[in-house]
Amino acid sequence: MRIVSRAAAMQQLALRWKRAGVKIGFVPTMGYLHDGHLSLVREARKRVGKNGIVVVSIYVNPTQFAPTEDLSKYPRDLKRDLKLCRDEGVDVVFTPGDAEMYPGKAEGKYSTYVVEENLGRVMEGAVRPVHFRGVTTVVAKLFNLVLPDVSIFGQKDFQQAAIIKRMVMDLNFPVQIIVAPTRREPDGLAMSSRNKYLDAEQRAQAVILFHALQAAKNAIAKKPVTAARLKKDLQAFLTAAPLARLDYVEFFDPETLQPVAQVKRGAHMALAVYFGKTRLIDNAKL
Ligand code: PAF
Repeated sequence: MRIVSRAAAMQQLALRWKRAGVKIGFVPTMGYLHDGHLSLVREARKRVGKNGIVVVSIYVNPTQFAPTEDLSKYPRDLKRDLKLCRDEGVDVVFTPGDAEMYPGKAEGKYSTYVVEENLGRVMEGAVRPVHFRGVTTVVAKLFNLVLPDVSIFGQKDFQQAAIIKRMVMDLNFPVQIIVAPTRREPDGLAMSSRNKYLDAEQRAQAVILFHALQAAKNAIAKKPVTAARLKKDLQAFLTAAPLARLDYVEFFDPETLQPVAQVKRGAHMALAVYFGKTRLIDNAKL
C-alpha cells in the first residue's frame, strides 16, 4: 500500500494509471475509519475489480467546519486508519496536509471555492452555512487529484451525496458517483466517527434517531400524514431520550430535497439531534 501526501505526486500517479487504462475507485474520508468507511472501500473494489486501483483519502477538511464547530477536536488516528486500509487491500492512501490542499490560505491567498446553489440551502446547509461549500470545494479538488472513474459516498450523508451528484453533473466531472447504504451498529445507530464523543448514557440513548425513523415509517404505513403532525409526534417521541435535543427533522422529496407538506411512502426523512455537544444525523426513505 502506498501512502502519498503531496498533491502533485497523487495527480502524477493518477495520470499514469489513466494512460495505462487502469480503473480508479475513490473513497474520500476524514479518517477515524469505521466499518461504514470500510464498506465503501469494499464497494470501490467491487466496482474497479482486482486490476483496478482503490484510493482512500484521509483529510480533515477545515473549510467544511464553521469556527464554532469541532475541527480541532475531530478524532484522528492515522496509524490505525492506515492499518485498516492495508487490511482492506487499499492500494493508495492519500493524506494531504492543509498546505497541499489550500496553498496560500493562511496568507489569505487561496480564493477559489465551488458552491452548489440549490440543494445545499436546506437541512444541514440551513444550520451549517459554510459546510457544503467546503465539501464541494474539497471533493472537486480531490477529484482533480485522484481522477477517479468511480467514487463512493455513504447514504448516511444523504444531502452531501445529492449535492456531490449535482456538482458532478453540473461541472462535467467524468466520474460515476455511487451511494452505498448506511452501516449500523447492532442496535441500529448509524456508524459515525462522531459516535466516539458520546458517553455511555448518551450512546445508549442515541439509538433514538434510528427508532424515530422507524416510528415515522410506521406512522405513514397506512395513510399519508401531514409533515406538521408528524414533526409534533416525533418531538414527543424523542422525549423518551432525555439527553436528546432535536436540531431539525425534515420530510422531503429525495430528488429536489424540498420539504413535502404531506408525508407518504417514498418520501425521505432526515433528522439531526444533539447529545451534549455531539450532533448526530440520520435519514431514511419512508
Ligand atoms: O463525508 C465526509 O467524510 C467528508 O464530508 C468528505 C466527503 C470526505 C469531504 O471532506
